[in-house]
Amino acid sequence: MTAILQAIGTAVPPQIVTNDDLAARLDTSDEWVRTRTGIAQRHVAEAGTSTSDLAVEAGAEALKSSGGEVDVVIVATTTPDRICPSTAPEVASRLGLGTVAAFDVNAVCAGFVYALATAAGLIETGAAERALVVGAETMTRIVDPEDRGTAVLFGDGAGAVVLGRGHADQPGAVGPFDLGSDGDRADLLCVPAGGARRPLDQAARDERANYLHMDGREVYRQAVKRMSDSSRALLARAELDVDDIDCFIGHQANARILDAVGDRLGIAPERRISNVARYGNTSAASIPLAMSDAGVEPGKRVLLTAFGAGMTWGSALLTWPELAAS
Ligand code: UT7
Repeated sequence: MTAILQAIGTAVPPQIVTNDDLAARLDTSDEWVRTRTGIAQRHVAEAGTSTSDLAVEAGAEALKSSGGEVDVVIVATTTPDRICPSTAPEVASRLGLGTVAAFDVNAVCAGFVYALATAAGLIETGAAERALVVGAETMTRIVDPEDRGTAVLFGDGAGAVVLGRGHADQPGAVGPFDLGSDGDRADLLCVPAGGARRPLDQAARDERANYLHMDGREVYRQAVKRMSDSSRALLARAELDVDDIDCFIGHQANARILDAVGDRLGIAPERRISNVARYGNTSAASIPLAMSDAGVEPGKRVLLTAFGAGMTWGSALLTWPELAAS
C-alpha cells in the first residue's frame, strides 16, 4: 500500500511586514533583501497567535475538503507552543479528532518532508489509515529582531495535507523518499540557549543566545549542495530522470538557493515553484505553502526537496492528485 495525497490546507497570519517596514528599524533595505533573497514581504503572527493556532486553521481546511477522520496527526515544527508537550495532541484535540495518535517532528526546515515520510510509513505498514501532516511555524518568535542577517529572512505560517491509503500507480501516490542529516554542522544554524544543554538564564538573554543564530554563507552552501544531492539520490532510487519531473518544489529559504539547485539539477525555470517573495522562509510550513500555490495538473510528477538546521535534508516524489476544493 502507498500513501495518497488527498487534500491541502494553508493558513498565514493576516499581518504583513514588508522589507521597507524592517528597513525602518534595521540597517537594511528593500533592495538588499530582494536581490539577495527574493523576499518582498512575510506574514507575522500577532501577539497571542501561536503555532497551534496556525496549524489548526490549516488542518481544518485540509480536513474540510477531504472529509472524514484521520488516525494520526503529525506536526512538523521548530517553534512548538511549548517545549513540553508537543503541539500535535492539542491540534488534534482542537480539530475534534478525539484521542488519535499525535506527535511533533522537529527537523526544522526539512521537517515537513520528514513528517510526510513518517506518515507515509505508518500508512504503508498499516499502523494508520489516514494521516494529517501539518508544517506550522511562528519563526518570528525565535528570530532576533535586532539581527538583520536573520530578521529579514523568516515568516510565519502553516500548511497541512491529508494522506489516505491507495496504490503506487494512483494519482496522489507519495514516495519514495530520501532523508539525511549531519549533526557535525548543528552549530551553523541553532538557538544556543533554552534547551537542556543551556537552560535560559539572564546571561543567555544578555548574549541573545535565546534567538536563532546562523552562519548564512555556509548554510547557503550546504543548502544548495544537500538539496541537489538528495534530489539526485532520490531520482536514482526511483529510476527517473530529471526530465521526468514536471514540477520542482524546493524549500523556500532564498530565491537564489532555489535557482542554484534548479540549475544544478537541470530543471527548467518554468517547472520551479517559488512563493518566497510573499512568505519569506516559513521553515516547516514552506513546502506545503508552496504545494498549495503550485497549480499543478493532476497526474504530473512533483519533486519536493528541503534543507534545514540540524543539518537535515529530505526529498520526496509524488504524482499530483485531483484535489477537492475546500
Ligand atoms: O532554511 C534554511 C536556513 N536558512 C537559509 O537557507 C539561509 C541561507 N543563507 C542565505 O540565504 C544568505 O547567506 C543570506 C541571505 C543570509 C545572506 O546573503 P549573502 O549573499 O550570503 O550575504 P553575506 O552573508 O555574504 O553578506 C554580504 C554583506 C555583509 O556585509 P559585508 O561583510 O560584505 O560588509 C553583511 O553584513 O551583506 C551584509 N548584510 C546585510 N546588508 C543589508 C547581511 N544581512 C544584511 C541585511 N541588509 N539584511
